[in-house]
Amino acid sequence: MSSIAQVNFPRMSQLKRTTAEVHDNLDNKIMAQSPFASKENHGDFLRFQYLLLNHVVPIYNSQQLTAFFDDLASRNRCDAIALDLQDLGMKAEGLAEQIKIEDLTLAQAVGWLYVIEGSKLGAAMLAKEVTQLGLDADFGARFLAGPGNGRGSQWREFMQAVEALQLNADEELELYQGAKDAFAVAHQLLDVIYQ
Ligand code: HEM
Repeated sequence: MSSIAQVNFPRMSQLKRTTAEVHDNLDNKIMAQSPFASKENHGDFLRFQYLLLNHVVPIYNSQQLTAFFDDLASRNRCDAIALDLQDLGMKAEGLAEQIKIEDLTLAQAVGWLYVIEGSKLGAAMLAKEVTQLGLDADFGARFLAGPGNGRGSQWREFMQAVEALQLNADEELELYQGAKDAFAVAHQLLDVIYQ
């Protein structure tokens, strides 16, 4: 982020800083599996993404969070990825348990949401890669497609909503902890698929 962004989006900058290393590790772990080398490899990547997106569905359905992020339900990509798996002749299989929203504070849930919404930024790059496999926004790579109104503006609106939250000092820490927890779970789910 530029220094202007750091001034205008201090919380978002802090979220990025606190999770930069764990993001890079996750990115490297995924790329080490050559997810774009074949449809089969891509299928494994999709199965990982489905585990993660299915796990967090309760966050996207949360009434409490919708009060702060009004288009929350439409941001959920779980159905899109289930269709992608179907395109590739694979089953969408989630873990038995989804996240329990009642176990999270509001700030922690927003930290989780940051991680899942943020992953759409990297998706822009990945969407270009999958075209070499013949996959696109209509077949096999729906979940990587940007929203109708543009990725940039969706992310900007998300950043503004996060910055507008009224959080006390403890809640501020919960926000960062929620993001760290989300990345930790993402690592675990990746291991479920690749180990
Ligand atoms: C091969 C896999 C991945 C690659 C290559 C990748 C790459 C990227 C890139 C290039 C950005 C910055 C985009 C920009 O600033 O315009 C980004 C942002 C982000 N990615 Fe990933 N990513 C990957 C996987 C993931 C996954 C699986 C998650 C979450 C579980 C994730 C979470 C995030 C978050 C939260 C951000 C936003 C950072 C911020 O600006 O605050 N990424 N990613």
